Amino acid sequence: MTDQTAVTVRPARRVAGRLRVPSDKSISHRAVMFSALARGRSEIRNLTPGQDVDATIDCLRRLGVAIVADAAAPADAPPTWRVRGCDGPGGLAAAADLEARNSGTTTRLLMGVLAGATGAYRIRGDASLERRPMRRVVEPLTRMGADIATTDGHLPAAIAGRPLRGIDYTLPVASAQVKSAILLAGVFASGETAVREPAPTRNHTEIGLGAFGVHVDHEPGLARVRGGQFLAAAAIDVPGDPSSAAFWAAAAAALPGSSIDIDDVALNPTRTGFLDVLRRFGAAVEVEPTVASPGDREPRGRIRVSHREVGDVRIDPAEVPGLIDELPVLAALATHGGRLTVTGAAELRVKESDRISALARGLRAMGGHVEEFADGFHIDGRTRLTGGLVDAVGDHRLAMAFSIAALGASGDTRVAGAGCVAVSYPGFFDVLASVCR
Ligand code: S3P
Repeated sequence: MTDQTAVTVRPARRVAGRLRVPSDKSISHRAVMFSALARGRSEIRNLTPGQDVDATIDCLRRLGVAIVADAAAPADAPPTWRVRGCDGPGGLAAAADLEARNSGTTTRLLMGVLAGATGAYRIRGDASLERRPMRRVVEPLTRMGADIATTDGHLPAAIAGRPLRGIDYTLPVASAQVKSAILLAGVFASGETAVREPAPTRNHTEIGLGAFGVHVDHEPGLARVRGGQFLAAAAIDVPGDPSSAAFWAAAAAALPGSSIDIDDVALNPTRTGFLDVLRRFGAAVEVEPTVASPGDREPRGRIRVSHREVGDVRIDPAEVPGLIDELPVLAALATHGGRLTVTGAAELRVKESDRISALARGLRAMGGHVEEFADGFHIDGRTRLTGGLVDAVGDHRLAMAFSIAALGASGDTRVAGAGCVAVSYPGFFDVLASVCR
C-alpha cells in the first residue's frame, strides 16, 4: 500500500529541549529473538515501539513463540514484554509463512536461526525489502549446510531446516546483520564458527548472546562462538536508540542558539561514530555515561549537543560502518551552511531505499547542491535550501533526514510519504513540533 501521509515542515529558528527517544531498534530485535530461542521465560523492558520490531514479534509468534505485553503497565509507560522461549530453533513451529515487512534485520537474523531449525519456512517482505540483496547471508549459511532457496538472490525465500556445521568466514562487506545470522546459526551448529569483518560493525549480537549466557569471543573485526550452546532466559532493559537521537543531535548542531539533551541513549562505541562527526562539523557535544546497573551490558547515558558552527567535513570509508544509518541526517546537517563528503558508502544503495540517489534527489528538490558518487556523495550547503516537495520513497530515515534539512530552508517543505517514520520512530513529528522554537 502506498503511504499517503504528507507532513509540512516549517523552517525553525532554533531547537531546544530535553527528551528521550524510542529504544534501540537493533538491540530490540535481538532481545526478542534471543528470548524466543532461550530456555525459560525472559522479560524485556523498554522494547522499541517501531514497526520493524513488530515484524520480528509477528514472525516469532507465527513460529509458535508466546510473546505478550504486560497489560498491567500504566498507559504512559512502555509495557514489559514477556517471552516464553522455545529452547533453540528445534522448538519452533514445524512450518510457517513469515512476513518481514520492511525489516532487513528481521529477515537476515531469522534466516540464521531457521537454517538450523527442523521445519520448512517461507519469508517474504514488502516491495523495498524484496529488492534488497540476500545472497550475502544465504552464501555463508549454505556453506554451513543450510538449504535456502531465494528468488534470484532476493525474497521471497524458502528455508528447509538442516543440521549445520561451523565455519570460518570472512565477510565480503561489513554487515552486522550477516555477521549476526552466521553467529546465530553457529550457536546451534556443530563445531566452532568464526566471523571476520572487513571493518568492525555493531556488536549487539555478541553482547546480547552474552546476556543470555552464550559465550562469544569477540574483538573489533572478529567474533567466535562454539556450537551446541543454549540460551538461558534473561531480563533485558533496552536503552534509547542513538540512530533516532541523531536526528535531534543534528538539528541542535545545525541551528544557531540550539541545545538538546537526550537521556538514556545507547553509547555502544560501534554506534556513536556520528557524535565525532558532529564535533568535526563544529558542534559542542557532551556525553555523560550512566553508571551501569548489574546486568547492563550495553553502555548508556545522556548526550547534550549545542550549536557552534557548521563546517566542512569528510567521512572516510573506514568510519562508514560505525555511522551507516546516520549518513542521511549528517547530509541534512551539512545543508545548514556546511559541506560534507562521504565515500566508501556504497552499502547505502541497498538499504530501505537507494539512499544515495534518493537523498540526492530529495535534497535537490529542496534547492540543495548534491553531487552523487557510486559510493557516496558531496553536499555543498553554503546556499540556503528553499524548501519544496520531497518524497520519502518509503524510507523512514530519509523522511526524518529531509525534515531536519527543512528546518533551515527559507520556505516550507512538504514531505510526501512521511508516515514511514513509524518503522523506527512513531511520534517523530510530534517531537519535532515540541523542540522547534
Ligand atoms: C543493523 C545493521 C545494519 C544497519 C541496520 C541495522 C542491525 O545493516 O544499517 O539498520 O541491526 O544489525 P547491515 O548489517 O546491512 O550493514
